[in-house]
Amino acid sequence: MTPREHISVAAPATVANLTVGFDCLGLALERPLERLDLKRTDTSGVTIKEIIGAQLPLEPARNVSGVAAQTVLKTLGVQWGVELTIHKAVLPGSGIGSSAASAASAAFGVAALAGADLKPHELLPLALDGEQVASGARHADNVAPALFGGLCLCTPDGRIDHLPAPDWHLTVVHPQTVIKTAQARAVLPSDVLMKDALHQMAQLGHFVHCCHTGDSTEAALALHDVLAEPHRIPLQPHFKEVQAAAMNAGARAGGISGSGPSSYWISFDLGTANAIGQAISTVFLQHGLDHNVHVGRIAERGAHIIEA
Ligand code: HSE
Repeated sequence: MTPREHISVAAPATVANLTVGFDCLGLALERPLERLDLKRTDTSGVTIKEIIGAQLPLEPARNVSGVAAQTVLKTLGVQWGVELTIHKAVLPGSGIGSSAASAASAAFGVAALAGADLKPHELLPLALDGEQVASGARHADNVAPALFGGLCLCTPDGRIDHLPAPDWHLTVVHPQTVIKTAQARAVLPSDVLMKDALHQMAQLGHFVHCCHTGDSTEAALALHDVLAEPHRIPLQPHFKEVQAAAMNAGARAGGISGSGPSSYWISFDLGTANAIGQAISTVFLQHGLDHNVHVGRIAERGAHIIEA
């Protein structure tokens, strides 16, 4: 890659867990996409010029993008610095990987600005330094798909396996409430029953198998969770009504996106995906709850340069 004086990059929103793979599965969405503008500065370190679309700390050490950018600068050992303008399209506390989009765009962006050809396994831990500022944990199930795109299986030792993505249409609905990941992790039990662990293990194995055999229907039907989702449903706004509306409108499967409050629903054609969005919208309107609907496919592309 050629070094540049300034660059604009984007990273996608993501759905973590995908119901069947708590903390180890995640996929990239076509939209929303988060944009980050980066400019080289003569002074070393990171400056955050502006954050558009959300109220977040401008102090680099307390900001996900700031920490990820600083980690990459340090790893590359460069003398110059970087000025960031952050366009928050993936909103904090939404459950569609806000901090991961910030961390991935900053880590990828600084490497691209430097012209450094960092490999995925080199870039991932640097972006995770940023993600950790927001969630307090280093789970890669949002950051990996935000960086690399597609459907990612993240192993505990930091390995990322790209799975063949099922041929799904996705409807993601984001009600305008905030659920902090730390809060949604605090409701989880510290131990699980052997029978639940066995059930989850077999379901995840079946899901991975279906991805490899290209059976998109069976892959959707494998999306069960007995570990996290049952404990988190009480935190989600009107989840049972949303689920009923989505399934009645033709969804084949779905659930909480990440730690919520967004939910994601799977169908096999665009018409049904739009109908699911309308059905959930009706539920939230009845409760007077503002929300955003995103309809799209699994994005093949993760963080990338926006060419002028
Ligand atoms: N796997 C994480 C969790 C994702 O569910 O807590 C957070 O977005």
